[in-house]
Amino acid sequence: MKDLVNEVYKRKETIKKMGGEERIKKQHELGKLTARERIEILLDKGSFNEINPFVEKRNTDFGLDKVYLPGDGVVTGYGTIDGRPVAVFAQDFTVMGGSLGEMHGYKIAYIMDFAMKMGIPIIGLNDSGGARIQEGVDALKGYGDIFYRNTLASGVIPQISVIMGPCAGGAVYSPAIGDFIIMTKNKSCYMFITGPGVIKTVTGEEITPQELGGWEAHAVKSGNCHIVAEDDVHALQLVRKLISYLPLNNLDDPPVIQTGDDPARTTPRIYDIIPEDPQKPYDVRDVIREVVDNGEFFEIHANYAPNATVGFARMDGRSVGIVANNPKFFAGTLDVNSSDKIARFVRFCDAFNIPIITFMDVPGYLPGVDQEYGGIIRHGAKILYAYSEATVPLVTIILRKAYGGAYIAMGSKHLGADIVYAYPTAEIAVMGPEGAAEIVFRKEIKSSDNPEETKLQKIAEYRERFANPYRAASRGYIDDVIDPKFTRSKIISALRIIDTKREKLPPKKHGNIPL
Ligand code: COA
Repeated sequence: MKDLVNEVYKRKETIKKMGGEERIKKQHELGKLTARERIEILLDKGSFNEINPFVEKRNTDFGLDKVYLPGDGVVTGYGTIDGRPVAVFAQDFTVMGGSLGEMHGYKIAYIMDFAMKMGIPIIGLNDSGGARIQEGVDALKGYGDIFYRNTLASGVIPQISVIMGPCAGGAVYSPAIGDFIIMTKNKSCYMFITGPGVIKTVTGEEITPQELGGWEAHAVKSGNCHIVAEDDVHALQLVRKLISYLPLNNLDDPPVIQTGDDPARTTPRIYDIIPEDPQKPYDVRDVIREVVDNGEFFEIHANYAPNATVGFARMDGRSVGIVANNPKFFAGTLDVNSSDKIARFVRFCDAFNIPIITFMDVPGYLPGVDQEYGGIIRHGAKILYAYSEATVPLVTIILRKAYGGAYIAMGSKHLGADIVYAYPTAEIAVMGPEGAAEIVFRKEIKSSDNPEETKLQKIAEYRERFANPYRAASRGYIDDVIDPKFTRSKIISALRIIDTKREKLPPKKHGNIPL
């Protein structure tokens, strides 16, 4: 018996050597950890249980019969984060560049099935040269199996991908179908469909891998990356943090964590954050931090479409999704990118039972030919769709501007918000007083002896009548006008009362959200 047990250890030791000392050294020199080191940091100490360590490649073409690829270049298993179960796979770049062969794909697909069956999040640590070229169509099948499972798992279990090295070609689509992509700032961490070489051949454009697919390209420009990390360790810490806000699956509730912040704490600093002059900008994140537990706001997509702000926080210990317009950038207008950003976040929260708190200060959709040609109609529609479809608790606070179609879109009562409060500074109207006066009173202004003065009079008249919260309140479109210093306690009371809300959508296969 002892000999047989020793044999297990011996075999496992060989597997744990991964691609060998040389390649591990190279990995470290590049500032990257190995797959096993990453898993150690990601999970609670000693909680990792490996699954399928002995799985090996079956293909023998192009010299594959002469090489040994431990674990076929991917480590899979399960463990815990803060005591809560998760499934994980980590591609091992030291083993043939973490390339995905048939059995590598099988292992990932297996652990995804496992995660689905157990109802636990799946975390993928990506570091791979893509499809293992020697294995041809078997490698492609591996990807197909993964994408199929990503899609079935969407909205059932949280799917988080961390890009910690190359992720090229078809490999990008597994992270893309999932919920969150975290990228590190490491120089050899990038994602693209076709690399610089192919681009140069086809279009003549010259670009480095970093410029094409590094963290800045995706966190700022394309929006593919949701969270940026300094390095491997930071990325794994961020995964742990992100998981702390999420339920294990769509039938579970997010965890409640005692934060020690008084639910009745007043928030008078908001008086000073929001300028009285509606033309003056401010950073809505200051309002958010004032309201949420201990000022802790875990922002998602922080560098992309900054005119909208989304992220997770806690209110009286409960996870909440925060959606806001940010007047600090483009006056908080909605454009193509911020529409996508908001709609996707709202849908994630709705799928995973996370209440949504919306802070509205929106002067409208961003005007512009490129916006129209870019499909702002279709993209803007996504926000309307996402809020209308959401059945999680929806609490909306109107801080200042709430104009036109953008007012409707940003979690208004009309789309099903459960509680809508407005500050005394709110202006709920079809458009801003300046624009409105010029259209409604155009003839009067033109024919007046002093058009400039008449215009100012008409603007003031419009502002008094419509640019305030009371017209909307008189119609019941908002539930109350509140003192900003009670924002926190009002939201927490609202969340408590909505807790037992029951809302069902009409039965259907699935909707047809404008994409
Ligand atoms: N299939 C098979 N082997 C691969 C591979 C792949 N897709 N990607 C990398 N490898 C192997 C390399 O041959 C190398 O093997 P070796 O150590 O025995 O020489 C090892 O993995 C490490 O790769 P290397 O090229 O030395 O690493 P790098 O950091 O210099 O470059 C890449 C990384 C990803 C840019 C580079 O490996 C690459 O271009 N790979 C191919 C990408 C691709 O076209 N994939 C297929 C389409 S999806």
